[in-house]
Amino acid sequence: MERLRGVFLILDNLLLENQLMTRHFLSLMDLTADELHKLVYRAIELKREFKAGVPCVAMKGKTLALIFDKSSTRTRVSFEVAASQLGGNSLFLSPSESQLGRGEPLEDTAKVLSGMVDVVVIRTGGHEKIETFASHSSIPVINGLTDLFHPCQILADIQTYVEHRGEIRGKRVAWIGDGNNVCHSWMNAARQLGFDLQLAIPPGYEPDKALLESCQSQASLSASPVEAVEGADLVVTDVWASMGQESERTKRLKAFEGYQVDPMLMSHASENALFMHCLPAYRGFEVSAEVIDGPQSVVWDEAHNRLHAQKALLEYLLN
Ligand code: CP
Ligand code: NVA
Repeated sequence: MERLRGVFLILDNLLLENQLMTRHFLSLMDLTADELHKLVYRAIELKREFKAGVPCVAMKGKTLALIFDKSSTRTRVSFEVAASQLGGNSLFLSPSESQLGRGEPLEDTAKVLSGMVDVVVIRTGGHEKIETFASHSSIPVINGLTDLFHPCQILADIQTYVEHRGEIRGKRVAWIGDGNNVCHSWMNAARQLGFDLQLAIPPGYEPDKALLESCQSQASLSASPVEAVEGADLVVTDVWASMGQESERTKRLKAFEGYQVDPMLMSHASENALFMHCLPAYRGFEVSAEVIDGPQSVVWDEAHNRLHAQKALLEYLLN
């Protein structure tokens, strides 16, 4: 009996050690600036290699699980295709089809999946849920969007900027609209990668205060959309009502009046400024059709780069 208890203790310690050593990607702050920089350039390289027919088997024999309790087109498709192009497999778990929807604790699910798959992507609401899952997981956990952050999106956005205009360090980026999850990840990116971020956000919809304070050398609130966009190299926006905020739509439409990215606003940006939107977009609300479908918009490259950026991320976390 004593010996058996000893064996269990060793196994428990090994599991704990594994959990402590596992790298997760819950926010852009989980990697160093140097790691982020390398990931972006590796994504560009992987994209070129894939187009040239050079195989990459970083996930050979490995499985990615996706646990999504919110809708997704880009994140789900890009991760599933990424796993396949890297020689691995993927499986999609929606709460309604798994025991999570019937109340099985996240902690137990994390321990079970840790013994069966190699990496997990989670899309959920409360950020604390993904943190709980990660703290009980001995395999890497990737944030596929929470109410607080959307770090995978920003990896692809930075890749897109670098491909079109070169290094983002020292550039000026304007965020127009809601101080939401995507905005928070842009704030972390400004801090990590050294660019200036001007935020034009209606009163009451500002980003997290503590996060803004921690990014104050790189990110600040502007008095108006025009002031934020003045001389910007890149203008970014997102939906005015995120997933889970559908009931606030009418109130938000009113509060965000004057915050649409339209040709007039873009005319204040630098002459060769780019426009980005993580998508899905609502033309006529946060952005006009002329801008999103116009020559400064790189939204399709941005969406397609989700695939390449996430391939680089999977390769990095797994190897
Ligand atoms: N941008 C983005 O994450 O899109 P999906 O919601 O379609 O995954
Ligand atoms: N802010 C949006 C992003 C969608 C990709 C949301 O959370 O719904």
